[in-house]
Amino acid sequence: MAVLNIENVSKTFGDTRVLEDINIAMAEGEFLILVGPSGCGKSTLLNMIAGLETITEGQITLDGRSVNTASPRERNIAMVFQFYALYPNMNVRRNIEFGLKMRGVAKQERGATVERVAKMLQIEDLLNRKPAQLSGGQRQRVAIGRALARDPALFLFDEPLSNLDAKLRVEMRTEIKQLHQRLATAMVYVTHDQIEAMTLGDRIAVMHAGRVQQLGTPREIYDDPANRYVAGFIGSPAMNFIECELIGEAGDTAVCLTGATDEARLALPSATTERLAAHGARRVVMGVRPEHLVPAAHGSAEAIACRIDVVEPTGPDTYLHTEINAEPVTARCLPSAAPAAGDTVALAVDVERAVFFDCDSEARIA
Ligand SMILES: Nc1ncnc2c1ncn2[C@@H]1O[C@H](COP(=O)(O)OP(=O)(O)O)[C@@H](O)[C@H]1O
Ligand SMILES: [Mg+2]
Repeated sequence: MAVLNIENVSKTFGDTRVLEDINIAMAEGEFLILVGPSGCGKSTLLNMIAGLETITEGQITLDGRSVNTASPRERNIAMVFQFYALYPNMNVRRNIEFGLKMRGVAKQERGATVERVAKMLQIEDLLNRKPAQLSGGQRQRVAIGRALARDPALFLFDEPLSNLDAKLRVEMRTEIKQLHQRLATAMVYVTHDQIEAMTLGDRIAVMHAGRVQQLGTPREIYDDPANRYVAGFIGSPAMNFIECELIGEAGDTAVCLTGATDEARLALPSATTERLAAHGARRVVMGVRPEHLVPAAHGSAEAIACRIDVVEPTGPDTYLHTEINAEPVTARCLPSAAPAAGDTVALAVDVERAVFFDCDSEARIA
């Protein structure tokens, strides 16, 4: 049975529709990410799961029971927010045990829970400090500790790391993943950061404009994006989108690509050409990730000659900025093989990995 089931859920504030027909069934122990740009409705959905926001349409069930009208207290859910929301006048120990105390848990049991949670999060030395005496990362650990103390059926996280500096964010990301592996409790985690989504999630729901654009594993979302929005949102540097003309018949289709000089024709795999033929359009948008646009092997027939505008070393990879069909694109190469800005380089497209979108609807067509 799904721990959490969101069925046909919509949300309206006044006359503004902010969520439209959301359907997500979450498995036991799953780590589910809601990712999307600011304002797409992530927090609203999370708050509806928590019971902090009403449901306009549809149903949310937890362990098979509808919670549409249940108060937050009745839901056995713990939530961690971006702003830690600690009680400033209480020390760490009292912050962690506060919820238990309110529910009448005996002192001895509270003490044992605080010890267990503090050990798990390695904050044993901080129990007597007040929040003001803690760093941002420590505060966030205490906020997580407070959620852990409740031993809930489901954890909700709303951008818990976005107030931390970059290095700490990466460290805490690993800690949260380890925590999930140890607890095996279902978690819903909201972020606008696609790297956090890719690295943490068992499955990711990519949200945009109040809808789930795609729900899948990180690999499915990355390799097999449902539409141009998802393809462009996930991945860094972003996927290249090149509008191009299709030539030839079904089973023998090529795309025309122009770099710095003459036009190159790239033959497409037969499965791709069949799907493109079924769609019927002659102009399409080809999506190619930077790692699938690379300097061609010497003498390669299907390479595109491109003039490199900017060379960007990142350490493990070097990115090359250039143009194909008059659109800016990013290619990737090994640092040892990096050209200089101004050089003309033959680039090859891995057509097996290229994806195709409708120019107008932006739907995936091949
Ligand atoms: N209480 C509210 N009243 C009216 N509009 C709201 C309210 N809460 C959120 N919104 C609007 O709903 C949309 C989604 O907000 P939110 O869920 O906070 O997005 P996200 O968390 O993805 O950034 C935004 O346009 C926001 O302005
Ligand atoms: Mg939010």
